[in-house]
Amino acid sequence: MRVLGYIHIINLFVILVFFTRCNQPAHDHDHDHGHHHHSSSYFDGISDKLLFPSKSPDRVILNLTANPMEAVAVNWRTDTTITSGVVEVAIASAGPEIRQNPRKINAKTSFLKSQHENEPEIFANYHEAIIDNLKPGEKYAYRVGQGDSWSEWYQYQMPDPENRPISFIYFGDAQNDVKSMWSRVIREAYKTLPEVDFMLHAGDLINRHNRDVEWGEWFHAGGFLHAMVPSVMTPGNHEYKNVVLSPQWKPQFNLPKNGPKGLEETCYFIDYPDFKVISLDAEQIDESEAFRDAQKQWLDSLLAANPKKWTAITFHYPVFSTKPNRDNEKLREYFKPIFDKYKVDIVLQGHDHAYGRGMVNNVPTGSNVREQSSGTMYVVSVSGPKMYDVSDDEWMERRAGNTQLFQIISIENNILSYEAFSADGKLYDAFDLQKSEGKPNKLVNRIPDVEERLLEQ
Ligand SMILES: [Fe+2]
Repeated sequence: MRVLGYIHIINLFVILVFFTRCNQPAHDHDHDHGHHHHSSSYFDGISDKLLFPSKSPDRVILNLTANPMEAVAVNWRTDTTITSGVVEVAIASAGPEIRQNPRKINAKTSFLKSQHENEPEIFANYHEAIIDNLKPGEKYAYRVGQGDSWSEWYQYQMPDPENRPISFIYFGDAQNDVKSMWSRVIREAYKTLPEVDFMLHAGDLINRHNRDVEWGEWFHAGGFLHAMVPSVMTPGNHEYKNVVLSPQWKPQFNLPKNGPKGLEETCYFIDYPDFKVISLDAEQIDESEAFRDAQKQWLDSLLAANPKKWTAITFHYPVFSTKPNRDNEKLREYFKPIFDKYKVDIVLQGHDHAYGRGMVNNVPTGSNVREQSSGTMYVVSVSGPKMYDVSDDEWMERRAGNTQLFQIISIENNILSYEAFSADGKLYDAFDLQKSEGKPNKLVNRIPDVEERLLEQ
């Protein structure tokens, strides 16, 4: 009897599941192209707009090129009925004449089919172009599209380091609940300093490398800012799975390809007149001996020939951790000697889901020795809502737990100014680095009178 009873219960369950599946509301989407729907209810409640492309350009984003004084890259996405793309560019002017006779640049179009686990397959065309022959200090208007499907006109301000300091916003991991919880951070950052030259993302922009709806959330959070302010991003471990890069990374971004062979658009450099930005691919440092060696040699020779006054390096895994019992020995063993040798000014990292910064020379975990001989400032930060505990390691001169932050960094002649703001727009940390030729940078702390925030709060 008992066994029979169980079988009945199992049967009832199977029937219930069957009914639930058959009663899924039908989507009224056009099935001819662009996307296919799954019968699974997994996607109920998730906005199709974040996921499926249409004829109209979406996910429009500017990226810095290796030479941002002359050119900027633009990428966007459409459905697969749109098989080509054009950028129209004009000098921004006071009236609507920007649309009269714009320069036209043809984009390169590539098809991508992506799918995360049992979620719907996404079929999209990605379009990329370089807007070149630009003049420093000039403001341009541009739009992207084709035929009768166009984006709005966006405006882009070229850098002008002779008249305005180069400045940028640095974000640690956005990663989770990006639409819900990260959007306020990028928007507050832009409101705090709208004239920045670029935004820098230190990896783990999203949580699952190929999950298109998460990329949709990331683009939604930044909205039109992505089309106005160029981005620079280094991949984190969450842009990888089994050491395979997110399939969306190269189609949807257009980052420099001037790094080691095989690490195009993940390890590269960007040159302003007095400032070099370098991205290292931390996952490939951690996972691949060959790519670790390649990046080591590449970085050493790049910095040996570095004619720039200031150098910032970004990669995902911290040289010094904020998280208790976390330690990325390989980075410290193989790369820190190079940072020391060339007196790299600032290292911008993520991954530890907390905030910490300090100017340290050689502090293996567990030791409390603080030296300041190389003058490199190490920063770990987080912009999304996922939070880890913060250790009390000596290397940190300022730290925070349970705090979403963004950082604004600006460079003018011999001063690098740094300000970290919490998500509510309040100043949390600040310092200047002062450069004098041949010496380590001088650190001037400007920590505001704000109590240290820790996880327990
Ligand atoms: Fe990470």
